[in-house]
Amino acid sequence: MIEVVGLSKRYGPKTAVDGLSFTVEPGVVTGFLGPNGAGKTTTMRMLVGLGSPTSGFTRVNGKPYRAHRAPLREIGVLLDARAVHPGRSARDHLLALGATHGISGRRVDEVLEVVGLTEVARRRAGAFSLGMGQRLGIAVALLGDPRTVVLDEPVNGLDPDGIRWIRHLLKDLAAEGRTVFVSSHLMSEMALTAEHLIVVGRGKLVADVPMAELIASVERGVHVRSPRSRELVEVLRGDGVRISSVTSDVLDVTGLSTEDIGTRALQAGIPLFELIPQKASLEDAYAELTRDVVEYQGAATSLGEAA
Ligand SMILES: Nc1ncnc2c1ncn2[C@@H]1O[C@H](COP(=O)(O)OP(=O)(O)OP(=O)(O)O)[C@@H](O)[C@H]1O
Ligand SMILES: [Mg+2]
Repeated sequence: MIEVVGLSKRYGPKTAVDGLSFTVEPGVVTGFLGPNGAGKTTTMRMLVGLGSPTSGFTRVNGKPYRAHRAPLREIGVLLDARAVHPGRSARDHLLALGATHGISGRRVDEVLEVVGLTEVARRRAGAFSLGMGQRLGIAVALLGDPRTVVLDEPVNGLDPDGIRWIRHLLKDLAAEGRTVFVSSHLMSEMALTAEHLIVVGRGKLVADVPMAELIASVERGVHVRSPRSRELVEVLRGDGVRISSVTSDVLDVTGLSTEDIGTRALQAGIPLFELIPQKASLEDAYAELTRDVVEYQGAATSLGEAA
């Protein structure tokens, strides 16, 4: 479990993390979302004692990070996959990290196998591709068989196969009862991986919500196909109901449930060929949540909004 309590971090005049409180529970994958510069990496770093909070504190598995006698067994982190001595082999890198914890060569080989680097284990890590480096970073995080795993943008640079592999790995780790906390900007991937979300913007908590609940909160229309769509429009009209026609026989209706629409169509004797509630995507929900907290916005969007 991860606890973040009233956490703030200032860099000179810049407040990177601003009174953040949340808990990450074991057993499910929790996604950490927020625009660029929202304070995600800063928060994750403070979980493992890299940078001290201006105020507030964090706890991992019930204790401050520094109070754990064998921290690698409590929390494994991927923060910057490039933080590897370029001249060292992947295997030597892991052996060196494990040395303080009595982690054996056997465990190192096991972890190399899990991340798919067995074949290149003795090659210089400096010559690794982006994706191989990312896999090595994940091997580091898993080395101590930790109860809590924190990964900052683990799918960066991975090919589709690698992305799928991470998704299954994270779900398996959570299913084993571990705490899994992962940041990413890939919404479609996050939607497939995480069950719970912590969303931050400008260092503050924006949402702490189950994935399903967040997506359900975005109102989406119902797609209705009928050969008598014009008549149907008359039957469905009313306060708070918006109807737009997509094609001559397809309507997009908001403000009425599928039950309402089906019942009214039946009462009017109008046949329906399709009645499909449209599901919002995580991307839609996220865009709505973070609209006001985006820090670094592209020029085109800013101009558009100013007009
Ligand atoms: N060492 C530092 N010195 C000064 N400012 C910093 C430092 N580290 C982070 N910041 C600032 O703190 C804010 C939060 O940065 P952080 O890296 O935590 O954001 P993030 O949510 O991880 O963003 P991204 O999605 O781009 O990775 C940014 O404005 C950043 O410029
Ligand atoms: Mg970051």
